[in-house]
Amino acid sequence: MRPFDQTLIFEKSTHERQASHFTFEKFEPVTLPDHLLRHDDPLLPEVSELELMRHFINMSTKNMGIETGFYPLGSCTMKYNPKINDELATLNGFIDTHPLSNDEDMQGILSIYDDTQKMLSTLTGMDTFSLNPFAGAHGEQTGLMIIKKYHEKQGNSHKNVIIVPDNAHGTNPASAVICGFKVVEIKSNPDGTVNLEALESVLDDSVAGLMLTNPNTAGVFEKDIRLIADKVHEKGGLLYYDGANLNALVGVARPADMGFDVMHINLHKTFSTPHGGGGPGSGPVGVVSSLKQFLPNPQVVFDNKQYKRVYHPDSIGRVGGFIGNTLVYLRAYVYMRSLGKEHLIEIGPRAVLNANYVKTRLKDHFNMPLKDYCMHEFVYDGLKDNSDIKTLDIAKRLLDFGIHAPTIYFPLIYKQAMMIEPTEAESLQTLDTFIEVMEHIVKEAKETPEILKTAPHHGYVKRLDEATAARHPILTYRQFKEKEVSQS
Ligand SMILES: Cc1ncc(COP(=O)(O)O)c(C=O)c1O
Repeated sequence: MRPFDQTLIFEKSTHERQASHFTFEKFEPVTLPDHLLRHDDPLLPEVSELELMRHFINMSTKNMGIETGFYPLGSCTMKYNPKINDELATLNGFIDTHPLSNDEDMQGILSIYDDTQKMLSTLTGMDTFSLNPFAGAHGEQTGLMIIKKYHEKQGNSHKNVIIVPDNAHGTNPASAVICGFKVVEIKSNPDGTVNLEALESVLDDSVAGLMLTNPNTAGVFEKDIRLIADKVHEKGGLLYYDGANLNALVGVARPADMGFDVMHINLHKTFSTPHGGGGPGSGPVGVVSSLKQFLPNPQVVFDNKQYKRVYHPDSIGRVGGFIGNTLVYLRAYVYMRSLGKEHLIEIGPRAVLNANYVKTRLKDHFNMPLKDYCMHEFVYDGLKDNSDIKTLDIAKRLLDFGIHAPTIYFPLIYKQAMMIEPTEAESLQTLDTFIEVMEHIVKEAKETPEILKTAPHHGYVKRLDEATAARHPILTYRQFKEKEVSQS
């Protein structure tokens, strides 16, 4: 520790030191019964405003984020969240509204709910959306519950199989199992697309549906999608679209036109929201008209006079409290409204162009399992002519240059996978800088490999033992100090 590096000291509390914050009373004070009142002071740190501010500002500089540097995390679409989204989503009228308010007092939020679901329907071709689910995986679970309820209603309870390709995101089979389905995995082609023979061999009357993401997890568009949809529909199954990769297609192609019946969108990816660390998120679920009544309750409708929350008797029920993660879909709403129709359709093509630019410029240095043009993201499978340097080493070295590592070791079908997704938000200059840094790292791999194997060198922490960190996490400063003392 440097002599005056106060930023590393977390225990800042001093008895009876405090910060002040002025509030403007907007509500009548509530008198609570004595048994609900706190009689002891809460055990909170006692710090001055200055120390408090320094603490949080210093903490914020120890992390990497989209606001500090390029963040090409494949499959996660870390696009820029324009500040206007946050400004509007934090207006008092929105953040002070209690979800238990009457419909009359929530007309603003309910109308935004309705407008957002209509915009998503226009972009995807689905009939209606529910914005209630709280994440992509939660959307999957909701969509699969709808598929289940649909088959039950048709008297087809024996349909209990969900087909999932072997390169699917892990949440797909997990969601299917949680909903009580049997998962049948099919092998995909080397480019990650569905192997039609493998699909046909498992299609029978027990099939309730097929889950697919398009473009798939290797960034390749499923060109046989109409044929696949026909085959599944012929057996009475439904098609579920995992919309986590919608960024490549938004405004260009619509999942409903490809034959999908149910889908979710990761709003926190395609429609911009700061995300990471497990949240916050929103996974709206869209359906074709024949599945509309099964959407989660409450559903938001407009009866020509006002917006209302209604409860449909055929619904799968509630999937969470209230009407979803309001402040996240509010950001998505602002994002769509501020870009407008004419600019929303530029997202996909720009994301695809940026990905192909980077992929092509670096193609001589990395193994490329998929040589053709990609969609919004692509995969390298380790350094060419250098098996000694692993993808992990390259990812760690990138941190030294202020660049967040791409997704690594996913999809699982490639041994040294490095999945890069630049997004449409980045400029040509940023992409060129990334390419230069990667070329520099390739040179280091040949000339000074030790630098890569021991990277990062300039980060807040050095290379971590990730297996131990996952199995025995130290989550608080106090635990860290105790460990330090026990080891000394
Ligand atoms: C293809 C795919 N499906 C589903 C998900 C799950 O989304 P969430 O993390 O919001 O639950 C992800 C998340 O990265 C994904 O990439």
